[in-house]
Amino acid sequence: MDDAHPRPRSALDADAVRAAYRRWARVYDSVFGGISAFGRRRAVAAVNALPGQRVLEVGVGTGLALPHYTKDKHITGIDLSEAMLERARQRVIHQQLGNVDDLLEMDAEATSFDSGSFDIAVAMFVASVVPSPRRLLGELKRVVKPGGHILFVNHFLATGGVRLAVERGMARASRSLGWHPDFAMESLLPPEDLSRATITPVPPAGLFTLVTLPLDGDK
Ligand SMILES: C[S@@+](CC[C@H](N)C(=O)[O-])C[C@H]1O[C@@H](n2cnc3c(N)ncnc32)[C@H](O)[C@@H]1O
Repeated sequence: MDDAHPRPRSALDADAVRAAYRRWARVYDSVFGGISAFGRRRAVAAVNALPGQRVLEVGVGTGLALPHYTKDKHITGIDLSEAMLERARQRVIHQQLGNVDDLLEMDAEATSFDSGSFDIAVAMFVASVVPSPRRLLGELKRVVKPGGHILFVNHFLATGGVRLAVERGMARASRSLGWHPDFAMESLLPPEDLSRATITPVPPAGLFTLVTLPLDGDK
């Protein structure tokens, strides 16, 4: 753990992520697809409304979002889990999604893309799963061009009440869950980004939040 990249109390490493999603892949859509559908649709609608065609979807998973992009957006999806990616590939074939350019096994914290390769990067329910959310943010800032946008939709730790206590308790099960229930927004965004991001609660019951971070244009 390093101070420049604060992690939730029970951060997962890449092998734990792969192991968790190898187990989840078969049932992911039926267990998690429903509750997260609204947040995913909101994030994709926000992407569709932004300028630029080159979209990087990090932690694309089983590809639940892929059918919802407008056809002018060209999507590259990456994920650590080959088992999840295989589901996404089947979806692309069955639904004939011609605007999905690539689905690649790759670590979102250290990609092989050139700087400025994308207009938009979007991470749906991923920021609380990656080993180091700040490294993820740094890498997305590198691969998105100046003037582009980075979007996150995620569950963030409650700031008080019963939900805070429950989420702190659930954090002990992070490794088997494959995500961190105790993931605070500050673990992802430093104060300077928090102050200029657009933060929108999304249903159900504000459980998820959409964060849109605009990047500075060319200097
Ligand atoms: C909760 S699932 C979300 C999947 C999809 N975005 C959705 O909306 O259903 C999290 C995904 O992030 C992937 N993941 C976790 N850490 C990653 C990393 N460092 N690089 C790429 N993918 C990662 C996992 O393998 C998993 O498929």
